[in-house]
Amino acid sequence: MVTATAEEPILIKFSHVVAVDTPKGKAAEKFRDLAALYTHNRVRVEVYPNSQLYKDKEELEALQMGAVQMLAPSLAKFGPLGAKEFEAFDLPFVFSDYAALHKVTQGPVGRALLKGLEAAEITGLAYWDNGFKEMSANKPLRNPEDFQGLKMRIQSSKVLDAQMRAMGAMPQTMAFSEVYQALQTGVVDGTENPPSNFYTQKMHEVQKYLTLSHHGYLGYAVVVNKAFWDGLPADVRQQLNLAMTEATLFANQIAQQENEQALAAIQASGKTEILSLTPEQRRAWQKKMRVVHDQMAERIGKELLLSLYQATGFDAGP
Ligand code: LMR
Repeated sequence: MVTATAEEPILIKFSHVVAVDTPKGKAAEKFRDLAALYTHNRVRVEVYPNSQLYKDKEELEALQMGAVQMLAPSLAKFGPLGAKEFEAFDLPFVFSDYAALHKVTQGPVGRALLKGLEAAEITGLAYWDNGFKEMSANKPLRNPEDFQGLKMRIQSSKVLDAQMRAMGAMPQTMAFSEVYQALQTGVVDGTENPPSNFYTQKMHEVQKYLTLSHHGYLGYAVVVNKAFWDGLPADVRQQLNLAMTEATLFANQIAQQENEQALAAIQASGKTEILSLTPEQRRAWQKKMRVVHDQMAERIGKELLLSLYQATGFDAGP
C-alpha cells in the first residue's frame, strides 16, 4: 500500500524518450499538471524527457522493476515484453487516417490489447497519438527500387524489420536517442518517423530528403507499473484516471497539428527537400509492403488481424 501524507506526496516518475515540444512531451506535462490539480498535490509527477533517465529498452525494464512508475513507449516497442500483438499497429498502410486508427485505439480491440499487458505486470491506461510516418534518406526515395541496400534505422519491431526488408533495405534496430548521430555519421542511411520527431531531434539537418509517404503509424500506450497502480489509495487512483482521460484528449487533439507545424518548420529550414509520391508511386510502395501482413500474421495473431481489418476497413484482398 502506498501511503501519502501532506508532507510527502506520492511520486510518479514518468520517463520518455522524445523532446518536450512534441505531442507526447506536451501530453506528459499536461498529465503532470492535472494530476497535481485533481489530487490536490497528493501526487507529484516528475517528467523526464529526451531519454534523460533511460533509453528505449531500459525504460521498460525500469518500469517493471519499479524504478519509474509511468512511461508512454511507442506501440512498436512492446514486443520485447512479450506483447507482440502491439506490432499490429506497425503494419504498413493499415490505417488510412486518424479516424481509422481511433476505431482501434478507442474500441474493443485497443482495450483488449492494453488488458493483455497485465501478463507483464504492467497496466495500460491509454493510447496517445503521434502521427503518420514519413521516410528519409540522403537520396530521394520515390520508388521501391530506391531503397535497395540502404541501411534504415527502425524501432524494435519485427513488423518494421519486415517492412524495410520488403523494400530491399537493411533494417537496423537502434534506440531513439542514438538516431541523430547514426544518421550524421552514416552508420545508417535513413529512417522513418512522423515530422514532430524528425524536427525536434534535428534529423532533418542530417537527411537530404524526406518523402511524405504516410506509410505507417506511430503512437503510444501510456503504461504504469501494475503493483504501484493497484497499491494506490482508491480515491487517488480515481483522480489520476480523470487526469489521464483529460491528458489523453489533449494529446489526441494536438498531435496532428504538432506534426503539421513540424513539417512546415522542416520545409522552412531549407535543409531537407520534401518529396511527395505520385498515386502510382504510392501504389508501388503499398504493393511491395503488402507481403508484410502475411509474413507477420502468425506473430500478431490471425484473429487480431481480422478484427483490425474490420475496424479500419483495410482491404485484405490479394
Ligand atoms: C522512435 O523510437 O522512433 C519513436 O518511438 C520515439 C517516440 O517515442 O516517439
